[in-house]
Amino acid sequence: MKVSTNTPVSALTTMRLGGDARYCITITTPSDLADAYAFAADKGLPTYILGGGSNVVGRDGGFDGVIMLNQLKSITAVSETSDQLLLRVGSGEDLDALVHFTVARDWCGIEALAAIPGTVGGAIMQNAGAYGQEIAQVLLGVDVYDTQTGEHVHLPTDDLALCYRRSIFNSDGPDSAKGRYFITAALLNLHKNELAGDLYGSLQDYLDKNDISDRRPQTICAAVTVIRGEKLPDPATTASSGSFFKNITIDQADIEPLRTQYPGIPIFLIGNCWEIASGWLIEQVGLKGQLIDGMRVSDKAALILINESAAGYDDLARARETIVAAVKERFGFTLQQEPEEL
Ligand code: EPU
Repeated sequence: MKVSTNTPVSALTTMRLGGDARYCITITTPSDLADAYAFAADKGLPTYILGGGSNVVGRDGGFDGVIMLNQLKSITAVSETSDQLLLRVGSGEDLDALVHFTVARDWCGIEALAAIPGTVGGAIMQNAGAYGQEIAQVLLGVDVYDTQTGEHVHLPTDDLALCYRRSIFNSDGPDSAKGRYFITAALLNLHKNELAGDLYGSLQDYLDKNDISDRRPQTICAAVTVIRGEKLPDPATTASSGSFFKNITIDQADIEPLRTQYPGIPIFLIGNCWEIASGWLIEQVGLKGQLIDGMRVSDKAALILINESAAGYDDLARARETIVAAVKERFGFTLQQEPEEL
């Protein structure tokens, strides 16, 4: 267990904003956790679990607490048959590295999650999804450290209330367990099939344009990597946290009136939720590509904000306010921020 002091949150998060965290403890083995949480309790400080920092924005005042920096890395086959693989994966593993590990062996289940920045733990916490797949579809359960009891236990997926960008780990509802558990590992169920049924629109378009008809995991992973690369900034070179706003979820009954009022409005069924593409709403109000208070609304995908020259979190907050107000005035929907705040 390594403890550092006054660690800039801006250096640990891909949006590159935020003041210092009082302490940062690097967790490299699950047995570090008891000591790490005892350290925080002893000092009477709050804790925050951080993975790749790709979906967290830091505030200017910093974090007067203890960041638990997740570096739990391991990929172990629990069982393998000719058509099914159970993998136990350390939650600090890089999600894209895991995707490449599985597709190289021809396993199907997470190939469309290629090139999403961040860790496996982060992906579970917010049920990461892209191009028709969600981590929920392959997750059998998680190993967690329970900070209330000090025990390491297993929680089956049914207990995690996974839905669009939500789980018990990040939601405030009645089933919230925010801050209670540290996910240490994920149990994933992969299979030898290929993606079935209708593919996500832009993925199918890409395959059609490039005359690709096979759906092998490696093929899908490569296609998604190219599609994402064209739109999503690389955190290594560009400060951003991917989609900055969630899509708007609506009831099925709202679809027809919306389509009548706004011809061309993109509405999709994702999992069991109907969603309006918020990027389209932002584009319609004329903000795509604009620089607002140092934050650039990406000219490739309007849902993405890039920290081009923000002086701090307050600039981001002002840019957010401008975008939310414009969409609200024109369409009546209130955009919700996707990244968490620290
Ligand atoms: N669109 C526009 N203008 C834009 C952006 C999008 O009109 O500027 C339209 C597109 O034409 C398309 C629709 O919106 O009809 C959907 O666009 P896209 O496929 O780019 O996906 P998205 O809704 O912008 C979501 C996720 C992404 C995920 C992609 C692919 C959310 C908040 N975002 O984006 O996730 O990669 O679908 O599945 O759910 C993330 O969460 O950080 C993220 C990148």
